[in-house]
Amino acid sequence: PARVSLLFSPAGREFRVPPDVSVFDAASWNGIAIDSTCGGHGTCRKCKVQLTAGTSPVTPSDERAFTPEELAGGWRLACLVRTVTDLEITVPPLVTRPKAATVGVGRQVILRPGVQKRYLELTEPTLADQRTDLVRVLDAIDDLEPTPDLHVLRRLPTVLREADYKVTAVVVDETLIDVEAGDTTGRRFAIAYDLGTTTVVATLLDLGTGTPVAVSSVLNQQQPYGGDVISRISATMMDPEAAGRLRELAHATLRDLAQEVCLEGGVAPEEVYQVALAGNATMTALVLGVDPEPLGVAPFVMSTAGWPPVPAAELGLTLHPGARATLFPALGAYVGGDVVAGMLASGMDRDSRVRLFIDVGTNCEIALADGERIVATAAPAGPAFEGGSIRCGMRAAEGAVEVVRLTPDGQAEDAVALEVIGDVEPRGLCGSGLVDAVAELVRVRLMDASGRFVTEEAAAEIAPALADRLSTVGLERVFVLHRPAPDARPEDGVYLSQRDVRELQFAKAAISTGWSLLLEELGLAEGDVQQVLLAGSFGSYLSASSAVRIGLVPKLPVLRVVSAGNVAGEGAKMVLLSSRERAGADALLEEVRYVELSDRPDFNDAFVERLPFPV
Ligand code: FES
Repeated sequence: PARVSLLFSPAGREFRVPPDVSVFDAASWNGIAIDSTCGGHGTCRKCKVQLTAGTSPVTPSDERAFTPEELAGGWRLACLVRTVTDLEITVPPLVTRPKAATVGVGRQVILRPGVQKRYLELTEPTLADQRTDLVRVLDAIDDLEPTPDLHVLRRLPTVLREADYKVTAVVVDETLIDVEAGDTTGRRFAIAYDLGTTTVVATLLDLGTGTPVAVSSVLNQQQPYGGDVISRISATMMDPEAAGRLRELAHATLRDLAQEVCLEGGVAPEEVYQVALAGNATMTALVLGVDPEPLGVAPFVMSTAGWPPVPAAELGLTLHPGARATLFPALGAYVGGDVVAGMLASGMDRDSRVRLFIDVGTNCEIALADGERIVATAAPAGPAFEGGSIRCGMRAAEGAVEVVRLTPDGQAEDAVALEVIGDVEPRGLCGSGLVDAVAELVRVRLMDASGRFVTEEAAAEIAPALADRLSTVGLERVFVLHRPAPDARPEDGVYLSQRDVRELQFAKAAISTGWSLLLEELGLAEGDVQQVLLAGSFGSYLSASSAVRIGLVPKLPVLRVVSAGNVAGEGAKMVLLSSRERAGADALLEEVRYVELSDRPDFNDAFVERLPFPV
């Protein structure tokens, strides 16, 4: 299956996750905390869960961790259970207070959040001790040397006296943002945002434990201004009011999500002291009220690569009045903060292997690292993966065909097997279904390497069970994936047209030209790549074998093509959990060399060369 469903108790939440990831990772991506001190590496034996529906093979580590009765009762180590079939999982409460959290692609982050709290029992002032209220507090915090916010000075005299000088100092980075009555050290929260052009995700994090408390996602409210960054930039160029309106809509999106995760997590908005936001360069400019126009026209210049920390209120958020926001820096107009966050979460700078990172989307961002150097670029793939420009294309929503399998030599009625989101009547084809359909047609040789359907006579010979699926709609040849009734016309069902195949070829040629030119930059060959990470809301759900078959990724054994999940959001979590990781994100700006493709004389030749499917 393209996705496996996991139902977690007692949280009562269900997620559809990519196949063959660990239950531990899938849980942590979705905000379900499972005990662990080894971070999912199979050594601490703390990640005990019970599978109440569905099973998973018993590993030697499971045998050491559990009694035979427990194993028979479905107890397993979550980090060793792979998502192969649908599962129901009961997660026991946390027992260890973690010092580290696992985020991103198996990254272990030592908890060192920018938000620190210190409980202080201060001596009361006397005529002999007339230190100011502020000095009294600062003297008591020995390991931090913060400077105060105006907000805290306003409250300080009252809070100290009302709380009998028993207070908790709240420091964010180097700033004292509050002094709270009593001991509130157990309550420290932050929100990580992945501000996508289409979807926006918020994760509320408990900074004390490093665990997500609640996760929520919504469509970006800027949608009415167009589905991609170019249409939103154009809107600001045509209508002087649009920029302000787009900013407000981004703020409203972030605000609604904040409200939702706080409510779900049982956290007061005032207990959220920091947010981190990963977005592409246009989304980041729009949310901050910076003119995005130069991003949309050559020579594609950003106003700045990095952003200073800003008050969270600048993002329209009503959290703690002193809350700060960290925004990810960008490498280029089309390799934005979301990609920097993704690279951080994938450990692109921490691995000695040759790794290729591909965030598949309308604008596809690609990075290549060889253990010493990192290069990155953006390739304009067009809207095919989101269902745009495809006749029966649609987003990955209910009714979308997401998996296609063809059996050319069996019975005609079983020759086409489809997996449809929501298990309903197929309505259209989403990106992963499109890639699958084309890859399968190439595999069963109903489509030649140039992307053309074979003739009907040839089809009858090559794949008799599938031959009657080749038909026409108007003047165009099509392959019918689903007919609502045996005698229905092709146009009433779900089909793949010759032009759709071309669209996909353009998209995959743009992407593969991108990575092949990056390989050339580092003097490497396709076969040198040791791992491909498919990232982003679309890339993560692509079938590895189909991606290899159509040449979207280098020709590698499928096991080396891995789904990386929502790495942008994971990167945002990392910088909140550790100031050191935040410095790592900034360091990526220095380490990564941005390669501009659009003015390269060899781009067109490479592109044309990469249109056919590999044979
Ligand atoms: Fe440590 Fe599974 S997380 S053994």
